[in-house]
Amino acid sequence: MSLIAPSLLASNFLRLEEECKMINASQADWFHLDVMDGRFVPNISFGLPVIEQIKTVATKTLDVHLMIVEPEKYAVAFKAAGADILTVHIEACNHLHRNIQQIKSWGMKAGVAVNPHTSINLLDDILADIDLVCLMSVNPGFGGQKFINNTLHKIAKLKDRILQRNLNVLIEIDGGVTLDNAATIINAGADVLVAGNTVFKASNPIDTIAKLKAL
Ligand code: DX5
Ligand code: ZN
Repeated sequence: MSLIAPSLLASNFLRLEEECKMINASQADWFHLDVMDGRFVPNISFGLPVIEQIKTVATKTLDVHLMIVEPEKYAVAFKAAGADILTVHIEACNHLHRNIQQIKSWGMKAGVAVNPHTSINLLDDILADIDLVCLMSVNPGFGGQKFINNTLHKIAKLKDRILQRNLNVLIEIDGGVTLDNAATIINAGADVLVAGNTVFKASNPIDTIAKLKAL
């Protein structure tokens, strides 16, 4: 059974507390929190003060996805704000191994995100050090985009390598996940599904999360 991580980027920020309580009450596993800086990606979302507030209400794991340059400067601050899992982009880190060790030394699980154009071969020498790979299935920066089908090959290839090497690394798929494509994504080998618009724009988000969870 896969883990479901609703992305708060698609939630109603005026009603953030209610949205968080809805996730608490649902079968969702994690809160997926998308931090954007307007430099690594062409959009700005929310940051530390908002995550601190979410932490006071959330009863589940906070999965923080940093779409920012120089993430190593802020990792410890995200720990203080309440992050349980911290994911940095491979494209944003010149010293990824050091960054991952820092994240883990501060007591967080460490994730690496890869953009749609980035080969998963580049993960070979970091895979044994991390807890999660976030495969971007859209170009990061915006919710509500269409799933890029090439991601399915990347999932299968990465899953093979993880199994071959007997590693304990979760594959998270981020972007364009819908009720229609979720089963195919899980069958390809995904462990965690991020879902923004599919959950928060649904007429019944709790029911939609249950449907994703049941796949
Ligand atoms: C995109 C973000 C995603 C986004 C997913 O840059 O990383 O987490 O919120 O949104 P949907 O599920 O609507 O594609
Ligand atoms: Zn994300």
